[in-house]
Amino acid sequence: MRQDDAQGDKPLKTRSGHGIDVAVQREDYLDGSAIRQIRSLIAWRGTARALDAACAAGGQARRMARAGAAVTAVDLHSDGAALLRAAADEGLTQIDFVQADLRDRELYRRLGQFDLIIAQRFIHYLPFPDAVDVIRLFRQALLPGGTLYLSASGLRSELGQQYDGAAHIAERFAALWPPMANKHGIHDRVCLYEEHDMRALLDAGGMRIAKLYASPFGNLKCIACLA
Ligand SMILES: C[S@@+](CC[C@H](N)C(=O)[O-])C[C@H]1O[C@@H](n2cnc3c(N)ncnc32)[C@H](O)[C@@H]1O
Repeated sequence: MRQDDAQGDKPLKTRSGHGIDVAVQREDYLDGSAIRQIRSLIAWRGTARALDAACAAGGQARRMARAGAAVTAVDLHSDGAALLRAAADEGLTQIDFVQADLRDRELYRRLGQFDLIIAQRFIHYLPFPDAVDVIRLFRQALLPGGTLYLSASGLRSELGQQYDGAAHIAERFAALWPPMANKHGIHDRVCLYEEHDMRALLDAGGMRIAKLYASPFGNLKCIACLA
């Protein structure tokens, strides 16, 4: 079977043309960190509220619900019914799905606040200034002591081959080299990140980085708290 990255993920492309849904296939270290936070909140006070931002088919939303969180899953796509059916099939009832653009300020007024937000493999679909706005919205949507788990596609990953990454992060927004676009199912323009770009994003968004690392594939992964 064809596999799409160093982790052996299948080419399960999102229908929206926004890359591969990895979360539905496996849990990575960042997902696991969010799960550990949920477990400790549940052990401490019995409740936890989590946002799965850009949830695709809801793989991480279901893991977080299994760990005991009340989960809101948000994505642009309109297939929330399938996500909720998959959750109900395993007896998970604490999941809501909201079809929305994560750039929409009004959305956050409706959603309220969370102990944690996870946004994996999404932020690079936005031009950097929009990404900063979204991080600020995430910040406002976090309760005191809340945590953001964020990842972005890396300029030093294979996606960066033949990509126009020379521009400063504030202006960097270009299509992938066609072989990479086809391999990864990413047909929109993207902003690929280096470690210092991720630092600049979190800093501009008012978040303090607790941990920042690169995955084996070369993507940037970050755990951040309120600054
Ligand atoms: C590669 S998938 C990531 C899915 C999952 N979080 C994971 O880690 O595998 C990217 C998702 O971002 C969603 N997305 C892209 N832009 C968005 C936006 N502005 N608002 C909400 N969702 C968005 C797409 O619909 C797609 O489901």
